[in-house]
Amino acid sequence: MTLQFSLASAAPETVDTACVVVGVYEGGAFTSAAARVDGAADGTIKRQVESGDISGNAGSSTVLFAPTGVKARRVLVVGLGAQKSFDAARYQKVSIEAVRALGRLPIDRAVSYLSETDVPGRNAAWRMRTAVLAADHASYRYTATFKPREKSAQPELATLGVAGEDNSQAALAQAVAIAEGVRFARALANLPPNICNPAYIADQARAFAEGKDKVSCHVLDHVEMEKLGFGSLLAVARGSVNKPKLVVLEYKGGNDGDKPYAFVGKGVTFDSGGISLKPGAGMEEMKFDMGGAAAVLGAFVAAVKLGLKLNLVCVVPSVENMPDGDSYRPSDVLTSLSGLTIEVLNTDAEGRLILCDALTYTAQTFQPHTIIDAATLTGACVIALGKHASGLMSKHDDLAAELLAAGEETLDRAWRLPLWDDYQAQLDSGFADVANIGGKSAGAITAACFLSRFTDGQRWAHLDIAGTAWDEGRKGLATGRPVALLAQWLIDRC
Ligand code: BES
Ligand code: MN
Ligand code: ZN
Repeated sequence: MTLQFSLASAAPETVDTACVVVGVYEGGAFTSAAARVDGAADGTIKRQVESGDISGNAGSSTVLFAPTGVKARRVLVVGLGAQKSFDAARYQKVSIEAVRALGRLPIDRAVSYLSETDVPGRNAAWRMRTAVLAADHASYRYTATFKPREKSAQPELATLGVAGEDNSQAALAQAVAIAEGVRFARALANLPPNICNPAYIADQARAFAEGKDKVSCHVLDHVEMEKLGFGSLLAVARGSVNKPKLVVLEYKGGNDGDKPYAFVGKGVTFDSGGISLKPGAGMEEMKFDMGGAAAVLGAFVAAVKLGLKLNLVCVVPSVENMPDGDSYRPSDVLTSLSGLTIEVLNTDAEGRLILCDALTYTAQTFQPHTIIDAATLTGACVIALGKHASGLMSKHDDLAAELLAAGEETLDRAWRLPLWDDYQAQLDSGFADVANIGGKSAGAITAACFLSRFTDGQRWAHLDIAGTAWDEGRKGLATGRPVALLAQWLIDRC
């Protein structure tokens, strides 16, 4: 069930709901909402702070049941940590923890006043947006492939009021649109590869476009791609019985003549490595290798939902990378759509081989204003930046700055790595124009260098989301990153 949001303007002690949420700093300092509730409830929060029952530690929480003087049935007191170091990241963290705590209570609605907490350098609209996105993130449950459960008798959190002024309504609506995009991406990326194959991704894109004004969807199948000369993409796809698709979504929210912004997302629905087979341990995580596709589709969903006044195209090359008697092999030389030939030295460096043809197609077909690709491209990027930042590579300083700023704004952060020509020589081949791997060092950068060969003359940036697209571990879920970054970047362009 998706959480519904509303703007709350009543005072916390008078609001009629199952639970009000207020914040207390470490050491016991109250936010203004906590002070009001405490005043109405005759000092009950203060006494629990004094007794040590309420610590104020960041993310901790305590439920007060039926406090007298307060209209709501419960008060959830959430710890904010030290006041002097309270910042945007902490605000996001406590917002997530608050909704997790609400989710454990037998309630269907609540109103949070954490959104009134001062955050240095951020305004009320940011606090509203971040509260909504954090709540939506925390309330997401994966259910798609479990046996349907009996509906439990216990109520589930369905509506969250977020405190704000009247002028926060627009920020709330914006956040709800972005949250829908994030959910779309998470839902798609979490599905197993026996369901979410290239045809399934194409169906989801078609279904989204269906009946929507200004939105259209076109899918190229392998026959059309053969005719057009997608020699690189098709080579990767050949080992799988699940035929490749090139999914193209267009949104015409802007003027007719305006050049579109273009997103391209890596849609490898399962990456076994192919003939250069991956080790068994952890291979199941390679169902997330379509995280880039999920993210650009999610950002597209958000852009449409927001009704942005711009033109946008979203291109998703989707394949499955499998070993087979008909698989492509190391030492094969492929002819890409651009005409450049590629020597395959490792069939596990497949992402760049499908992206290069998609990038060429995007540039030729749409003459876009800017191209941004998102891809779970390299393990090297995870080694370099870990799970916290997406890798950003671009030769365009202004574009890089725009994307970094959108990441900071949404806390869906990226960090730039150099894309200097010095690295290009690592892709030299004795048998083709370019090799598909660049050796041991700077793997994230040489992957981007490979893509750069196919984006000549384009205003282009690459996001390596190998570390950020999903949470590690047996129960790790898709994060929906970098939908928020991409959606924010589009919003900033309007
Ligand atoms: N999809 C993987 C990258 C990946 C690995 C993402 C681990 C997330 C976690 C990609 O297709 C791949 O296999 N890359 C190789 C490239 C190498 C062969 C040059 C890699 O990173 O090992
Ligand atoms: Mn691979
Ligand atoms: Zn891959």
